[in-house]
Parts: sequence; C-alpha cells; structure tokens
Amino acid sequence: MYIDQLSLTSFRSYDQLDLPLRPGVTVFVGPNGTGKTNIVEAIGYLASLSSHRVSSDAPLVSFDAAQAMIRARLVRASQATTLELELNPGRANRARINRANPVRARDILGLCRTVLFAPEDLALVKGDPGSRRRFLDELIVALVPRHAATRTEYDRVLKQRNALLKSARAAGRFTSAHEATLDVWDQHMAAAGAELTAARLAALDRIQPHLQAAYRDLTDGSKAVSAFYRSTLLGPVEEDGSAAPGPDPRDLLGLDTGQLTDRYLAAFAAARRREVDRGTSLVGPHRDEVELMLGRAPAKGYASHGETWSYALALRLGSYYLLADDDERPGSGPILILDDVFAELDAARRERLAGIVTGAEQVLVTAAVGDDIPGALAGEQITVVPGGVRESVR
Ligand SMILES: Nc1ncnc2c1ncn2[C@@H]1O[C@H](COP(=O)(O)OP(=O)(O)OP(=O)(O)O)[C@@H](O)[C@H]1O
Ligand SMILES: [Mg+2]
Repeated sequence: MYIDQLSLTSFRSYDQLDLPLRPGVTVFVGPNGTGKTNIVEAIGYLASLSSHRVSSDAPLVSFDAAQAMIRARLVRASQATTLELELNPGRANRARINRANPVRARDILGLCRTVLFAPEDLALVKGDPGSRRRFLDELIVALVPRHAATRTEYDRVLKQRNALLKSARAAGRFTSAHEATLDVWDQHMAAAGAELTAARLAALDRIQPHLQAAYRDLTDGSKAVSAFYRSTLLGPVEEDGSAAPGPDPRDLLGLDTGQLTDRYLAAFAAARRREVDRGTSLVGPHRDEVELMLGRAPAKGYASHGETWSYALALRLGSYYLLADDDERPGSGPILILDDVFAELDAARRERLAGIVTGAEQVLVTAAVGDDIPGALAGEQITVVPGGVRESVR
C-alpha cells in the first residue's frame, strides 16, 4: 500500500503541510530539527494511533493550537481511502473515513499498515520489558485490530484490581470483603489476561521465522536470533524482566484461552499472599517479558552496539515481513518507514538494508545527511525546511 497525499494541520512544527507522495522510495533530507521525523511520525500515528516518540498526544499538537489534524489518501490493493484523524489532547480523538461521519479513532486501526524503525527502537533490545511488551502489543493490533480492545480491557481490569490490593494493604488487614471482591477481579483479569497472552504468544510464534530471516539478511548470518516469551504463569518475573530458570515457555503455546484462564486463576491463588503483601498485581501479561537471544546469550547485556542496532532493526523488518505475509494481495504490503537509520550502520549493513527495503511498495526514509543514503535507494528526494518542504528532485 502507499500514501499519495498527506496533509498535516497544526501537527508538531507544521501549521499546514500538503505533501504529494509517490510509491517507491522517498528520502526526506534536511538539517537536524527541521521536521523530517515529524512527517513520518504523523504517518506512523495514522497506523497505530500512537507516536514512536511520546506516550501522550499533547506534544503532537503545535504550540498554541488546540487540536491537530492528520489527513492521508491511502491506496491499498488499488483502492483509495481517505483517512482523517483529529487529535484532541485530553479529549477523545476522532476519525473520518472517506469523509463520512466521524467515528472513534480506533475504528481506523488496520486500514493503514506501517512499520516504522527509529533510533528509539534501540530500547527494544536494551530497554526495560515494557518496550518489548509494547512492541508485541502493537504487532497483535496490526495483525488483528480488535485486539486494541483486548488491551484496553486488560488495562482497565488491572487498574481496578491494583486499586483494590493497594487499598487493602493501606487498611492494614485483608478482610473477607476484600477477599470476595478480589475473587471477582481475579475472574475478570484471568479472562482478559488469557486473551492478551494468547494473542501475544501467537504473534511471537508467527514473527519468529521472519525475525530470524531479517537478522540473517542484515548481517553476515554468523549469529542466530530467537525470542522467548517469559510468562508470569510459569514463575515470578521481576520488574526488570529477570527470572529464575523455569519450564519451557513454549509449553504455553498449545493452550487455548479457556485453559490459559484456568492457569491464571491457579496462579493468582498461588500468588495471593505475595500480592496482598505487596499491594499490587504480580502475575499477568503486564509483568511478562520477551527474552531476546543472540547466539547463546541474551541480547540485553551482551550484544555489541552494532548488533543491538541490527537486532532492533530485525525486529521491525521481521514485523514488515510478517505483515506482508499476512496480506498477500498485490498492493497490500505495509509502508516501510526508516527514520534516521542509515547514519548508524556500517557500509555493508547499509547496502544490505537498502537491498531489502527496495522491495517494499512505499519506503519513506529520513536522513540529515543525504550522502548517508546508499545509491540503491535513489528515488524521490524531498528537502525539508522549517515549516514545509522546499523542493522535490527525481
Ligand atoms: N508541538 C510542537 N509545536 C511546534 N514545534 C514542535 C512541536 N513539537 C516539536 N516541534 C519542533 O519540531 C522540531 C523537530 O522536528 P523533527 O524531530 O521532525 O526534526 P528532524 O528533522 O527529524 O531532526 P533530526 O535530524 O535531528 O532528527 C523541533 O525543532 C521542535 O521544536
Ligand atoms: Mg529526526
């Protein structure tokens, strides 16, 4: 798929930007801070309803403006759709599809598929488990948009259950009324947690071969990568993701949501004393970890700087391969966005990456220095200047 027209209103540094785009490779060049990432961030937002840089919407709205607007004309399998998204920080965002009546923002999930790689993605490998859980959750929503609701429901139940555990702890004693209420929340959390866990396990299982292929394609292939889901169902996982060696996490893969629900109920029962003492939920997908292995060692703590980059990039390229595989209709592959990636790679990895991405229907690349872009990615070059774009060279 590709976007052939992008308009931004009061988005980040742009009062108004109207930008025609083409399929194939487009490179945005310009000095630091001119607004290259802002453009691709808007496109990524349209696909995932979240920014790769900030967790709230407020920074996306221009200084002095109350709301921002992202509009795009998307062509997927030769069919054009106009998407409009209104960002209202502090209030519900709204969307319109083909200029029809406004709908909830989340109703546009799944229409535009992008895979965005940015320097922030180093955190996927080096950062805390939350970054990896987010990666996986974004992937499950990209694959099955209704899982956006699965996430929301789990977060809602978790919040309530934590509030109960916290207030019981503050009260200093755990009464039978607390007990009864907690039993009810256990049921809700087991059901919601099972749904989310099943989706994550399935997505991780599906991406695995693509992740391995992507890492092989990017490097000389001398080291293999693999990813394991470490579930709190199989034993305690600390907040930093560490855990004692336990049963094989793949054992969970064969379970359906009913069986996972039962496993959660049993795990909650076993953890109840600890949870009451700590005043918080210790078992559930909010505490799970995705362990990334490089060769024989965990990538976190062992991988070199360059390997960390390649690993993070392979996670995104793996998503790209998987999404392309998921919808094989011609013209339906995801839009690939590479924000500031070439400057960090050595010449060999640049060439390899360029070779891989030229197969995508639309590739949007940003770079402060045009010379960092390998020759194989020759295409449209757009010079970004503060507040707009200056020229477009073919
Ligand atoms: N809400 C906002 N309102 C107005 N300007 C903003 C807003 N948010 C960010 N900016 C401005 O946008 C600019 C950053 O743009 P962007 O991150 O796209 O730069 P870039 O071209 O990608 O730079 P680099 O090459 O350093 O990555 C900054 O100058 C910042 O002050
Ligand atoms: Mg940038």
